[in-house]
Amino acid sequence: MISLTLVSLALAAFANAATQLDIEAVEAHFSQALIVPALIPTFTPGAVLSLAFSGTDTPTGKALQKDAVASQPVVTVSALNASLTGNFTIAMVDADVVGTDYGSDGVNRHWLENSVTIASGTVTNTSATAITAYAGPGPASGSGPHRYVVILYAQPSTFSPPADLSAPVTGVNKFDLNAYVKDSGLGDIVAANYFTVEVGTDSTSLPATSAVVSSTLAPAASGGASGGASGGAPAGASGTSASSPGASSTDKPGAAMKSGVQTAAAFLVAGVVIALL
Ligand SMILES: *[C@@H]1O[C@H](CO)[C@@H](O)[C@H](O)[C@H]1NC(C)=O
Ligand SMILES: *[C@@H]1O[C@H](CO)[C@@H](O)[C@H](O)[C@H]1NC(C)=O
Ligand SMILES: *[C@@H]1O[C@H](CO)[C@@H](O)[C@H](O)[C@H]1NC(C)=O
Repeated sequence: MISLTLVSLALAAFANAATQLDIEAVEAHFSQALIVPALIPTFTPGAVLSLAFSGTDTPTGKALQKDAVASQPVVTVSALNASLTGNFTIAMVDADVVGTDYGSDGVNRHWLENSVTIASGTVTNTSATAITAYAGPGPASGSGPHRYVVILYAQPSTFSPPADLSAPVTGVNKFDLNAYVKDSGLGDIVAANYFTVEVGTDSTSLPATSAVVSSTLAPAASGGASGGASGGAPAGASGTSASSPGASSTDKPGAAMKSGVQTAAAFLVAGVVIALL
């Protein structure tokens, strides 16, 4: 039996060597936030990816202010087993709010860099190609808490990017992430992390959905089994800056879809808590 206290201890220990429990906690976060399977069909990372914006480490799923994530984070990776060698591709996409149907439009690409390497656990770009240089989140005001997902893929020597995504300085735009991964021959997801950014107040005012988006294992751990679905309202997420750099998606899912997702998410939260007991 794994106690929930251990889970929170594990979450605090991301900066050190990853354990199986660290990995399972990230997997649980991604399922709970419905990033898996909506954006990422299957997710079995072998490492933990940590993001530090301006020197501050970011817990998985944390609600952050737009200004705090405007500059490229330092990315560190801690593997369960072997060392991380070779080339990797790092991507950050806007998975929008819970319930978004990406369809053929795909997701907004905020960062796409090929041939990064890992030196002493830190992602480095000395011989990398920044297809899309890091562009900080800029969700439309009132469009709810967007989930920004940072993913590190293994990049085998056979990697061959599509023509429209092979040159540097390709701006933020929608693309089909999974089609890109498949067509270019990228390998498995090594590690991933996410945070949320909300600008203004969600005009559809769906508090339960917001809670699911931002809830993490941490409130579940401290508040018992009932804390998961209701805890973790996006603290300080009501930013006042309404300016959008044009990097945002304005897609908004219908209320009916959100409602169904809330129900599904509630079951998932329950499942996560049970699975960890
Ligand atoms: C890590 O090593 C253990 C023991 O050798 C093995 O059972 C497990 O599958 C490995 N995990 C990964 C992600 O490679
Ligand atoms: C490499 O990363 C630094 C920040 O660590 C950034 O300023 C620079 O633009 C990046 N270069 C490329 C090619 O991505
Ligand atoms: C890694 O990327 C660099 C730069 O693109 C390339 O020269 C090198 O061959 C790659 N190594 C492997 C093992 O793919």
